[in-house]
Amino acid sequence: MELKRGILNKRNGENMVKDSYIMRLIHIEELKEVVLLQNFVYENLSNKQILYTDSYDEMRTDMELGAKVIGIFNSNNQLIGYRYIAFPGLSNRNLGNDIHLPESEFEKVVHLETTVVHPDYRGNNLQSMTLQEVIRLTKNLGYKHLMCTVSPFNLFSLFNNMKNGLKIKALKEKYQTGKDINDGLYRFILHRELEPIKTIQPIQSFSVSLDDFKAQEYLINEGFIGFSLFKENKLLNYIR
Ligand SMILES: CC(C)(COP(=O)(O)OP(=O)(O)OC[C@H]1O[C@@H](n2cnc3c(N)ncnc32)[C@H](O)[C@@H]1OP(=O)(O)O)[C@@H](O)C(=O)NCCC(=O)NCCS
Repeated sequence: MELKRGILNKRNGENMVKDSYIMRLIHIEELKEVVLLQNFVYENLSNKQILYTDSYDEMRTDMELGAKVIGIFNSNNQLIGYRYIAFPGLSNRNLGNDIHLPESEFEKVVHLETTVVHPDYRGNNLQSMTLQEVIRLTKNLGYKHLMCTVSPFNLFSLFNNMKNGLKIKALKEKYQTGKDINDGLYRFILHRELEPIKTIQPIQSFSVSLDDFKAQEYLINEGFIGFSLFKENKLLNYIR
């Protein structure tokens, strides 16, 4: 199913060139290409902590259970980006568990799992564009909550998610390997209701440095939510 098409800027050495794209849902038979792109992007990351990679088998099983992958293909029909979403339902992995969402809402939760854009195509707003498609698709299917985890060290992804209305509701260590309770990766848990977007009238507000985890944990425990991020000075605005 085609979702969108248009023109992108592509980095070509020192120059920028134009390239056309098609955004569509990928078929399960195309999953190998998705995992190859993920692994290529992961290998090129300077901070490997920001991306929790999924194996082919994990994604395949998840797709068989209903997960979807929106792919972006260039004019040569090569996959240059994707967004993977899942529907965790009543399973333990539902991030609703981390923000005390009532269990009756769990089946209405959409997980924004992974978004990856090839380095040559970054800066085209593809993370936001695919998120807007997810909002449109899942709203029509009756889902109510968007949730995701983002590393505090992933400024670009955090900014894009918050720009689209997701708010920080928790800060936790996730993805433990099981060997040690403290060997996980730090993750913000973000949440947004699909609609209506409620306007919040804050009674208190604090700006905190993105890397001050202690202050953020304190504020979250006191009932604050992370509301907006200033990319330039890496300050997060917490309100309640
Ligand atoms: C996060 C990600 C998907 C964002 O890609 P995107 O949608 O193309 O980003 P944007 O269009 O919002 O980029 C905005 C600006 O930030 C820059 N930018 C985006 N990601 C960047 C990165 N990882 N490193 C350096 N600069 C980056 C863009 O070049 C652009 O700069 P410009 O305004 O000068 O053109 C992409 O960085 C990526 O694939 N990262 C690795 C995987 C990852 O961390 N995924 C998210 C967690 S699941």
